[in-house]
Amino acid sequence: MHPVLQQLGAEHRDLRSLLALLRRQPSLLADPLAPNIGLLVDALSYLTSFPDVRHHPLEDRLAERLLRRDAIDPAFVAELEAQHERLGQQGLDLLRDLEGAARGETLSRELVATNICLYVERLRHNMAFEELLLFPAAARALDAADWRDIEADGLPGAPDPLFQPQAAQRFLQLRQAIEREAAASAQDARPAFCEHAP
Ligand SMILES: [Fe+2]
Repeated sequence: MHPVLQQLGAEHRDLRSLLALLRRQPSLLADPLAPNIGLLVDALSYLTSFPDVRHHPLEDRLAERLLRRDAIDPAFVAELEAQHERLGQQGLDLLRDLEGAARGETLSRELVATNICLYVERLRHNMAFEELLLFPAAARALDAADWRDIEADGLPGAPDPLFQPQAAQRFLQLRQAIEREAAASAQDARPAFCEHAP
C-alpha cells in the first residue's frame, strides 16, 4: 500500500479514538459548571485546524486525480467534496457554540449536544465512505507518477498537533483524555451518550 494511503488510514484510526471520546462528552454540557467543556472546545479546535485543512484536502486531491483517470464515479467525488465542506462548516459552527458555552453564554445545551452527536456521525460516515470507495480505487488505479504529483501538491508538513508522539502543549489534556477513554471503554459496557441522543 502506498505510504499516502497508510497515512490516511492511520489518521482515520486516530480520528476514531477522538470520536469515541466525543460520543461520551456531550453529557458534560448538561452541567454548566462542567470543567471539561474545555475538552470539547479543544476537540473542535483540533478538528477544524488539522483534519479540515490537511487530511480532507489530501483526500480531495486523490479523488480529483481518480476523476482525471476516469477511475471513479463523478457522483462519488461530488458527494465526498460536499461531505468535507459540510464537516468543515459544521465544525466551525460547533466550535463557536462551544466557546460561547465555555464563556457561560446562554444557549441550548441540548441542541449543542445533539449537534455534536450529528457531527460525530457525519465524520464516521465520511470515513467509512472513503474506506469503501476512495482508498480502494486509489490503490487500484493510481500509478507512481500520480502519487508523485499528489505528494508534490502536498501542503508543508506541519506535524499533527494532537496525535504526533508528543502532543503539542495546547492539546496535551485532550490527548490524555483520549488515552483515558480508550482504556476505560475497554471495561465500560455502558452506551455512549450519543447512543441515547434523540
Ligand atoms: Fe478521511
